[in-house]
Amino acid sequence: MQKELEKIKKNFKTKVEKITNIQEFKTIEKDFLGKKGALKQILDLLKTLDKREKKRIGKMTNQLKKDIKIDLREVRKKITGHNLMEEANIDVTLPGKRLPQGHIHPLTQVLTNVERVFESMGFSVFLSPEVENEFYNFDALNVPADHPARDLWDTFWLKDNQKIEMGDEKTKNKKNNNQNIKPEKLLLRTHTTAMQLRYMKNHNAPFRIITPGKCYRYEASDSTHDIQFYQVDGLVVNKEVSIANFKAIIEELFKRIFSTSIKIRIRPGYFPFVEPGFEIDIACYQCQGENCPICKGTGWLEVMGAGMVHPEVFKNAGYNPLYWQGFAFGMGLDRLAMIKYGIADVRLFYQNDLRFLKQF
Ligand code: DAH
Repeated sequence: MQKELEKIKKNFKTKVEKITNIQEFKTIEKDFLGKKGALKQILDLLKTLDKREKKRIGKMTNQLKKDIKIDLREVRKKITGHNLMEEANIDVTLPGKRLPQGHIHPLTQVLTNVERVFESMGFSVFLSPEVENEFYNFDALNVPADHPARDLWDTFWLKDNQKIEMGDEKTKNKKNNNQNIKPEKLLLRTHTTAMQLRYMKNHNAPFRIITPGKCYRYEASDSTHDIQFYQVDGLVVNKEVSIANFKAIIEELFKRIFSTSIKIRIRPGYFPFVEPGFEIDIACYQCQGENCPICKGTGWLEVMGAGMVHPEVFKNAGYNPLYWQGFAFGMGLDRLAMIKYGIADVRLFYQNDLRFLKQF
């Protein structure tokens, strides 16, 4: 086979010297380097050789291939009067084309920021499902079916809910064994507060957690509402927990999100799963009360619902309300991002308009 290679080499040398035009060049190139060319035939035969020979001949064939390529390049240069780079009109000194590079969505940036702040204060991040059942979203939180407070949350109910199994393993198995149990009514969670019983049923106090995620409400969208939005809920349970602790934690949160001290205001508010319940406002970060489209001149922005965990919620979770105390809070992440960046329309976050997104 070595002889064969030498023959090819000789043959190539004589032929290559006679090339005068590009047509001939192409023929020779094909005859020696092409798919059915002389070298390919040798390579195909390699598998019939023993290991050592295969290695030796393989090496020689590859070397010959390289030499042939070099010779051909020279010949091509001679007959065309310029080299390949020039022919293809490539200026190797030009800077390369930049590939467009994406970056993190502003909502994700704010979410990550919020998570980091809470993690640094000893909170864990707990995720709970977006498709939730009626129990965790409402009943467990002291909002039974006939409770007027259900009107606070316009709900997307799922139609064919028999097919989807929710809940923890234990309840699932029970359900399979007992055909009489009614299928769970499923919905898209209206708030991340739905995590409370999910977490408390499977964990012991004391703990401090946050749950970020998407929520859904069946309502008309406008500049401050959308049917889908992000919330972050928090829950802290311990033997002695007070509103003062809550205040300290959220003051720290806002200070770190807005990189400056922010005045907060706690007002009474009603949520069935807390007692007392309150709403939290922060001093308008954009205009300091001077009048801007975000606070509409009031100087205050509503950012959060909160309160001390209702004894009924503790009972539903199997916690003794005489022993455990806790506070809970829930805030809209989109709203926080709007305030932070001074954005007047929440829908901009979801339109994927690069002119908007590139600003962050
Ligand atoms: N879930 C409430 C909402 O979506 C917000 C809220 C209020 C969450 C009080 C809480 C809370 O955890 O304690 O409007």
